[in-house]
Amino acid sequence: MKLKNLFNLLKVLPLFLLIISCGGPNESDDPIIIPVAKVQATFNMSISPSDPNVMLFDNKTVGKGEFMSEWDFGQGNGFVEDLPGIEEIRFDTDGTFTVTLKVTNEAGFTEDSKTVVVNNGTGGICPNGNCTSNSSSALKDATTTFFVGNITRASRINAGGKHTEVLKSDFSSITSEYEMKMNVMYPSQGNYDFSAADVIVNFGFDNAINVHGHALIWHNATPDWVKDFAGSDSEFEAMVKDYITTTVTRYKGKIGSWDVVNEAIEDGSGNPLRNSIFKQKMGDDYIKKCFQWARDADPNVLLFYNDYNMASSPGKRAAMFKIVDSLGDLIDGVGTQMHINYNFPSKSNIQAVADGTVSRGLKLHFAELDVRANPDNDQTSLTAERADEQKAKFKEVVQIYNSIPLDNKYALTVWGLKDNETWLIDFWGHIDWPLMYDDNFNKKKAYDGFLEGLQ
Ligand code: XIL
Repeated sequence: MKLKNLFNLLKVLPLFLLIISCGGPNESDDPIIIPVAKVQATFNMSISPSDPNVMLFDNKTVGKGEFMSEWDFGQGNGFVEDLPGIEEIRFDTDGTFTVTLKVTNEAGFTEDSKTVVVNNGTGGICPNGNCTSNSSSALKDATTTFFVGNITRASRINAGGKHTEVLKSDFSSITSEYEMKMNVMYPSQGNYDFSAADVIVNFGFDNAINVHGHALIWHNATPDWVKDFAGSDSEFEAMVKDYITTTVTRYKGKIGSWDVVNEAIEDGSGNPLRNSIFKQKMGDDYIKKCFQWARDADPNVLLFYNDYNMASSPGKRAAMFKIVDSLGDLIDGVGTQMHINYNFPSKSNIQAVADGTVSRGLKLHFAELDVRANPDNDQTSLTAERADEQKAKFKEVVQIYNSIPLDNKYALTVWGLKDNETWLIDFWGHIDWPLMYDDNFNKKKAYDGFLEGLQ
């Protein structure tokens, strides 16, 4: 029990006894019942940065009023008092330990339990039992026939630490999460801002990591001044040409590829071309014009069309291949966003994306891979069972990618390093764990799934 909490509980106890034992202001014999809400026990845990066999437990109990708290660290000692500050507990022997925090106030008690799995053969502790089992090989060493990518931000590169360490050790390609989009690179007419993009491209270049440029044209990252363009259609087109030419030229020889156009196709029936400002001002062949300007600016950089729901929607996939076919030699490859679920889409639909791309002799970029483990928002933590299912989906995706011919391979990019950095939590508004590393940079089973998919 925290001493302060015990002290406070003792302070309020006489008052509490007085209230329930005397009649109160109405002077009737009925006791006045003052409802007291239970406090909710909850805690965070993480591996000590200085010792792989020490866990840090942080009591984050929520609720008003006084309470006392105790821990059972699952090592046979029963409940012990919760000392002030973060508890540091050593786990030396292999096994599965249930750690419980019990919190008591006048209304009763609540508990929170978490599992710690210790396997010294694999380097120590694995919170939640969802870490990798035995893999010490780096992804980038295992993927020798294609780039294995992840995303980054200028701020994370500048901060360095574990983020850049993991990027450098595990990944051979990087994509900017949002700073190589038009709203960031071209915030107002005539004023380009490549400061964040430069940080990312230079980091890749300096560390011999491929950079995939994402994305020159995307309706969702179009600055307002472009959406409200004050000028004629031909001035609009000249502006877009200047933007593409300036940007592609700037990174010529420094990056391997560009998504020229992202998400141009509607989801609705018939999957028509999205009615973006680019379509409105430049016509239905705006995609071809953009590819031509990018090609003219850098004949060597690979040019991709990128879109989502390519596996889950055969209709949208067909619409995408129609656009791709109309581009002829201007396009080098197809980027298919892989924002998928642990149980969806089917293997055969993912395979169909690969088959359609290979049959056209194009490069395939399995882009933006994340595998939602909680699509129905019915989980509060990643269970061992769901982690296994997620692992199987990672493995399936990698197996399909790794089986395409060498000439069609380019990169498989995962959309985020660690679970608590995923864009999906904001996008869907609830918790999920869709990536290969947990919040503390521990490799999850999903990481093993990636490696096993290569075999
Ligand atoms: C997302 C980023 O992850 C977010 O940080 C940003 O705010 C919005 O864009 N499809 C894409 C990506 O092509 O660029 C999107 O990335 C996710 C959906």
